[in-house]
Amino acid sequence: MLEDLKNNIDFFIRNKTGFSRKNFIEKNHNLIERNKLENLYTKDILAQNFSKPTEENIKILDIGCKNWFYAKGEHEFFSEHINKFQLDGVELDAYRLYSNLYSRYEVAKYYTKGLQNTNYIADNLLNITTKYNYIIWFLPFVLVEPHTYWGLPKKYFYPEALLKHAYSILEQNGEMLIINQGKIEEEVQKTLLDKLNIKYTQLGELKSSYFEYKYQRFGFLIKKV
Ligand SMILES: C[S@@+](CC[C@H](N)C(=O)[O-])C[C@H]1O[C@@H](n2cnc3c(N)ncnc32)[C@H](O)[C@@H]1O
Repeated sequence: MLEDLKNNIDFFIRNKTGFSRKNFIEKNHNLIERNKLENLYTKDILAQNFSKPTEENIKILDIGCKNWFYAKGEHEFFSEHINKFQLDGVELDAYRLYSNLYSRYEVAKYYTKGLQNTNYIADNLLNITTKYNYIIWFLPFVLVEPHTYWGLPKKYFYPEALLKHAYSILEQNGEMLIINQGKIEEEVQKTLLDKLNIKYTQLGELKSSYFEYKYQRFGFLIKKV
């Protein structure tokens, strides 16, 4: 309860002030190299699981994009197939500060620099009404413990409502890829999808030769037909 009070106060203050140092640049060589591999991983996971995009002028949404360190991988996957698309990322906690006093939003500006038609939206997914042809959802909070641990107030924990909303903004014939961390979260995700009667393909463990995360990742592909 005390933790939630603290999260509420911190969350309120950081969103009210939007404070951040400006013009973030990553200088740590190891982190730059790791980021390259994570982007290759991202692109590979999308290529393995999504249908190849063929239509121009489509819209793509990343849900919970944090500092969007993997935006380039997403962008490269789509730009290999089509010329024009809009890539949006929505993040509820955009003004969370790192210990170096840069916000996620400011760091995202660095990671999305030069990526055409890429737009970071500091907002709650529930406020998004645009419809998307592809939705990418890496590591949604389906359990309250990680949600709280990451500093979010409990009043924002409503995984079922978020999933329902994400599905409602998926275009007809659109595809949504959800990736969960660990077997337990995969099981909870499956229960949520079943409860909402959303049809899916359970992809099992997702792997890429480019990068291996410490914890196993599992996927679901939803095609809205
Ligand atoms: C486990 S993190 C995953 C971050 C990132 N996708 C990744 O793969 O590293 C979940 C993210 O979802 C965000 N989030 C939670 N609820 C949200 C909501 N209602 N709208 C938008 N983002 C939300 C959190 O703030 C957090 O950044």
